[in-house]
Amino acid sequence: MAGSHDAPLRSLDAPLEVGPDDWKGKDFYHLMTSLVIPRPIGWMSTISASGVRNLAPYSYFNLMGSDPFYLAFGSTSIKDTVTNLREVPEFVANIVSMHVLEEMNFTSGNFPRDEDEYQWAGLTPVPSAKVRPPRVGEARAHLECEMVQIVTDRNTHIVLGRIVHAHVDPSVWKDGRVDPRLLDPVCRLSGSGYASLGELYNVDRPEWKNVQGTQVREAMPRIKKR
Ligand SMILES: Cc1cc2nc3c(=O)[nH]c(=O)nc-3n(C[C@H](O)[C@H](O)[C@H](O)COP(=O)(O)O)c2cc1C
Repeated sequence: MAGSHDAPLRSLDAPLEVGPDDWKGKDFYHLMTSLVIPRPIGWMSTISASGVRNLAPYSYFNLMGSDPFYLAFGSTSIKDTVTNLREVPEFVANIVSMHVLEEMNFTSGNFPRDEDEYQWAGLTPVPSAKVRPPRVGEARAHLECEMVQIVTDRNTHIVLGRIVHAHVDPSVWKDGRVDPRLLDPVCRLSGSGYASLGELYNVDRPEWKNVQGTQVREAMPRIKKR
């Protein structure tokens, strides 16, 4: 079986079957982060009890619910973001557009806890509406959150936050909604890889009333290029 090798093979002549403990080092991590793509990035603003700002990107990040609205992100080990959240349980998930990719990446550096990543990256802290950590002025959208829980399993810390406020810059708003092209979100791949949006498509949602009584695949909504 391909998974019985203790490292990835250069090429596969059969499907890869592998578990998290089969390979040594970071190989399974690289497999996971190359399979779950593209990932959005939550550029997390937090603040310490003494008021030191912190900013760091997290791509183990997504919207988790809409009644109420939840998002989650995962920290591998206790980083400054998690330490701050234990002191001040509020954060802002700043949305990362392509024009701030380099700044976002710079803030992932291992800056000491008392260093302010906003200053190092030349970013503007702007007051938030309902939470104490400021948001990134250069970002085009921001989700303010109250932290509800941190779920910890060994070295994985999953932060659950309830969204309490959203800011959207007029520059990304068109015809009553966010235009994905204008938002121009950074998509995280694995390692140092990133992508921007490619082709955009629409596919209607299926409705049972249109499906019942039809043949296999006949009522399947089709891809439409935007
Ligand atoms: C695009 C990007 C996404 C990242 N995503 C995560 C992540 O989801 N979880 C994590 O633990 N670290 C992630 N990192 C690494 C952290 O940003 C990095 O460890 C940072 O120093 C943490 O900062 P903090 O100690 O101020 O919280 C990511 C880095 C980059 C560049």
